[in-house]
Amino acid sequence: MLVSRQNPFMKLKLLFTVLCLAVSSYGAERVVGGPYVVNPAPRAATIGWVVETSDVKVGAEAGKMDRTVSVLRGDKVSLTGLKPGTTVYYQAFAGEEGKGRFKTPPAGRASFKFVVFGDTRSRHELHRKVIEAISNLDPDFVVHTGDLVNDGYDTSLWPTFFDIERELLRKTVFFPVLGNHERDNARFYEFFDVKLPYYSFNWGAAHFAMLDSDVPNVASGSGARERFWTEQTRWLEDDLARNQKADFRFVVMHHPAYTVNITKGAHVSQETPVLVLLFEKYKVAAVFAGHDHNYQHHLKNGVHYIVTGGGGAPLAPAEAPLPGNITLRVESVEHYVPIEVEGNRAHIRAIALDGHVIETIELTAPGGN
Ligand SMILES: [Fe+2]
Repeated sequence: MLVSRQNPFMKLKLLFTVLCLAVSSYGAERVVGGPYVVNPAPRAATIGWVVETSDVKVGAEAGKMDRTVSVLRGDKVSLTGLKPGTTVYYQAFAGEEGKGRFKTPPAGRASFKFVVFGDTRSRHELHRKVIEAISNLDPDFVVHTGDLVNDGYDTSLWPTFFDIERELLRKTVFFPVLGNHERDNARFYEFFDVKLPYYSFNWGAAHFAMLDSDVPNVASGSGARERFWTEQTRWLEDDLARNQKADFRFVVMHHPAYTVNITKGAHVSQETPVLVLLFEKYKVAAVFAGHDHNYQHHLKNGVHYIVTGGGGAPLAPAEAPLPGNITLRVESVEHYVPIEVEGNRAHIRAIALDGHVIETIELTAPGGN
């Protein structure tokens, strides 16, 4: 036999290799999410993917551990030296499923298309259909208005989210905000490579400010929550003031500033009026939110407020319009919102899952101060 001719050192090496294979097959890592692209700049981007490093069995009896809890890790690589407004192809890990592509943001004014959607946390078959419809549009990037999963702490849910969104996320760029169902969990920060729950980015001549409206999950103490809100509000004002030369300023936050679903209560943050003053002062074109699982469009003092929470979660009713004639459209249906920006105009459509157009909105850049 081949082994019998080997010296003792070779036998030991062979034994060590066999043992290693046994150990690694027991606790084998596997990719359960991605690849996806976050944090792009004209010359840089981050490619991420999620790895299940092991799973833990849990049960009420030693012989009956019938629950499996995944241990997840977010892997990533930062790319630099890219060219603005170009397509980048990549292979994040082995196999066809490791391949992807994305466009870098154009450095100056340019036409582009993106899609806003949200509240994908349940009814996975509908979530999958919404994603298929968005994927067919081949958007430059997608914006998620929060509540990606039903419970950010439940590691069994993230692989399902990434499985459903796989084909979309591997060919575009992803910009999420925190929803209350993420519960401010560390996985959100780790997977999507954000250090703070609020951030901003530019795409062409449009500026986007992404907020964390889920104040109750920020901290258990009211003092810490107030400090967070003060810091985020200061950041937003500074961010909007510094970007008055952008054609469009868009804001994304999970909880809507205005909603018809007031009977459920506590949907609109008590602090929201402060934000509304900033939206108006700094000429924000549109504010995208989720949380209420329907489509809503309100227009107040020149700012469009769009609720797009039709990504799969159980639908909320189309309740009575808000007073003051600010409510322009409400429809209780699964949907998504594609937006095409050309020059100083933005063409917004709200499209239901059955294909019918809920509404179209034509925006002209409001200019700045
Ligand atoms: Fe929510």
